[in-house]
Amino acid sequence: MTGALDAETPVEPVFDLAGVRYVYTNRQVALDGIDLLVRPGEQVVLLGANGSGKSTLLKLLDGIIAPTGGRMRALGRDIAAVVDGFDAFRFHRQVGLVFQDPDIQLFSATVLDDVAFGPLQLGLPDDEVEARCDEAMGIMEIRHLANRAPFELSGGEKKRAAIASVLSLRPDVILLDEPTAALDPRTKWVLVNLIRRLGEAGRTVITATHELDIVPVIADRVVVLGEDRRVHADGPPGQVLGDRDLLIAANLIHEHLHEHAGIRHSHPHGTDESHDGLDGPGGHGPDAMPPAIAWMADPAS
Ligand SMILES: Nc1ncnc2c1ncn2[C@@H]1O[C@H](COP(=O)(O)OP(=O)(O)OP(=O)(O)O)[C@@H](O)[C@H]1O
Ligand SMILES: [Mg+2]
Repeated sequence: MTGALDAETPVEPVFDLAGVRYVYTNRQVALDGIDLLVRPGEQVVLLGANGSGKSTLLKLLDGIIAPTGGRMRALGRDIAAVVDGFDAFRFHRQVGLVFQDPDIQLFSATVLDDVAFGPLQLGLPDDEVEARCDEAMGIMEIRHLANRAPFELSGGEKKRAAIASVLSLRPDVILLDEPTAALDPRTKWVLVNLIRRLGEAGRTVITATHELDIVPVIADRVVVLGEDRRVHADGPPGQVLGDRDLLIAANLIHEHLHEHAGIRHSHPHGTDESHDGLDGPGGHGPDAMPPAIAWMADPAS
């Protein structure tokens, strides 16, 4: 509901970026002039091909690195000051990042120690720490892994532990870098529903992903980074996902050439989509396989 009070009361943005650039020390340009305003409670999905700057942008939003150009504020603070340590403890209570690579997130002797690390840092009483760990591990279905060493876990188990270690902090602003990568379907959709519920509960959630199928469930806004490391689109999911040319240009779906009975045609595919199971008239079943691997489907040949 938008009342007169809402219209008149300025709401401080969570993130406010103007012309932000980030250049790594090896001179690699990762972001090249990003304008982005995120308000409290927004559910943003960040789409972009490999190398388009998604992880770099999330690290900036998390106050780990400072822009090398442009202007950026986060939760009312100059982000460069946060990176230098100013009010950093309070900032990191409010903003949590699930890294793309769980090995960066997990450093303790056991999964439970990693999940408890944040709440212990906050100085919470023991029973509160225990309750938060139990809740976070329950959501991610990893209670049985509590006493395991993180480095001995499978890729998907590590990912679940890394997510739990951020959930236990209960941050107001949650940044997720490809959270569903490496997860099995059940865990993926448990997490997708969780992300949606966090949004409904008023948290600000920014998720970088390649998986277009989860976008309508978890986003009220989609920002597309192009391979030139600039924002190519910023709008509602229906509008952005409906723009086929934009998705092809940003390398989020690809034109794929097929040959059936000598007739070539093309149509777009999501980056993770395979042809398996797309059978039927005009479909792409075993008949569409290149001859070199057709024997795999036909033991008689
Ligand atoms: N530590 C680093 N040092 C130097 N260059 C880097 C570093 N990390 C990333 N880059 C470069 O910065 C650019 C953006 O990388 P980034 O990891 O932000 O992309 P991304 O959109 O997250 O990609 P992906 O989908 O593969 O995760 C790329 O060209 C990458 O090679
Ligand atoms: Mg990345």
